[in-house]
Amino acid sequence: MTTARRKTAILISGRGSNMTALIAAAADTSYPAEIVLVLSNRPGAPGLDRAAAAGLPTLTVDHKAFPDRESFERAVDAALVAAGVELVCLAGFMRVLTPWFIARWAGRLINIHPSLMPSFRGLHTHERAIAEGVKIHGCTVHHVVPDVDAGPIVAQAAVPVLSDDTPDTLAARVLEAEHRLYPLALALVASGRAVVEDGRVRVAGDAASPALLSPN
Ligand code: GAR
Repeated sequence: MTTARRKTAILISGRGSNMTALIAAAADTSYPAEIVLVLSNRPGAPGLDRAAAAGLPTLTVDHKAFPDRESFERAVDAALVAAGVELVCLAGFMRVLTPWFIARWAGRLINIHPSLMPSFRGLHTHERAIAEGVKIHGCTVHHVVPDVDAGPIVAQAAVPVLSDDTPDTLAARVLEAEHRLYPLALALVASGRAVVEDGRVRVAGDAASPALLSPN
């Protein structure tokens, strides 16, 4: 018996390297999510070309063409519904979403953030991790809630911070971890193994913590 794969959209604003990792994972027909749409709020985002090259439908909904956030989001929502989307992955999507959109997609909307939440919410996470002198840094896939860079954590990956790291070298190490983490996290959500309970994600059968990746 085959199980239906969850129809998934990826929302991007830029280069789309996490998007590319998700597309690669979903190219395997046994993966529990199928990518049915890549949508960018920025015309010409490099990720759009990468998605098109992978044979996926792409769409630009330029936020600048709308008078306010909600009308932009209503256009995004209509595109997602038209494509039959069940799950939405934010992958470097640099627009803050309104409570309306978040409520509409609650439990079906995940994001990747380049820090070990709840540390370093917001921007410039790698600079701030170095400035604080933390020795472990990483990335988090989480459900989206109205608070920015908060919400039930699906999975995290940790990397070391080395003494001679610059924000760029640390960002590159974290990005590699992101590319391993996001496909794992989407698989957990799409397969129904990761479920939100009382504001936290419970992963079925995670006695060995498959949702925590350590450095290679
Ligand atoms: C990634 O590092 C992602 O974690 C970050 O933007 C980058 C996008 O790269 N997202 C955020 O900072 C969201 N708060 P990509 O376009 O190559 O995937």
